[in-house]
Amino acid sequence: MKKFFLAPSILSADFARLGEDAKKVIDAGSDWIHFDVMDNHYVPNLTMGPMILRALRNYNITVPIDVHLMVKPVDNLIPQFAEAGADFITFHPEATDHIDRTLNLIKECGCKAGLAFNPATSLNFLDYVMEKLDLILLMSVNPGFGNQSFLPSSFKKLREVRKKIELNASNILLEVDGGVKLENISEIAFSGANVFVIGSGLFGYTNYDVIIKKIREELKHVYSTSIH
Ligand code: DX5
Ligand code: ZN
Repeated sequence: MKKFFLAPSILSADFARLGEDAKKVIDAGSDWIHFDVMDNHYVPNLTMGPMILRALRNYNITVPIDVHLMVKPVDNLIPQFAEAGADFITFHPEATDHIDRTLNLIKECGCKAGLAFNPATSLNFLDYVMEKLDLILLMSVNPGFGNQSFLPSSFKKLREVRKKIELNASNILLEVDGGVKLENISEIAFSGANVFVIGSGLFGYTNYDVIIKKIREELKHVYSTSIH
């Protein structure tokens, strides 16, 4: 049975009640928390830093926290997020001058490492670093904002990445981020994703339990031969 991970993006949560909202989606059955970091430089928006992550840990949020860095440069923030309690740290290859060095830094800090691809970013960036990756994040919208529509070109890209992962006999997680909803999640899963970031598609509703239960139902029908 394939394992699917739901990673709610707290970008769409109520910032005035962040801890409470994060707890609610976890109690409703989410696996991780997706933590979007934006710097008003790499992307045109400004969000959260390591202090907020630390505050969530202090609020007893114990599930894996999946930090998605949409910042440039990236290296100086990595130890700070690791220290604050991140589990996964993912960055965009265009945002660092030395991809290999940045991946090493994430590992040295004791975190799992991910590489994120914008809709128009070439998968060639994977060529020499696959063995260092724990996660590949495919953006299915242009980064910077929640509540955008899923770009259909992402299906083909997902299948391409899934193929690369299988060819390497690797268990790298394949995460999709942007416009994931109850309505399209099974098609996304069929295309190869096994980690689903979901922001407005979850926080946009009042009853998280109901949506998550429906999502799990959808995913039950997805058959996959992959190793998870
Ligand atoms: C966009 C962020 C996403 C976003 C997803 O740059 O990386 O994580 O919050 O939100 P939805 O699910 O609303 O597209
Ligand atoms: Zn994200």
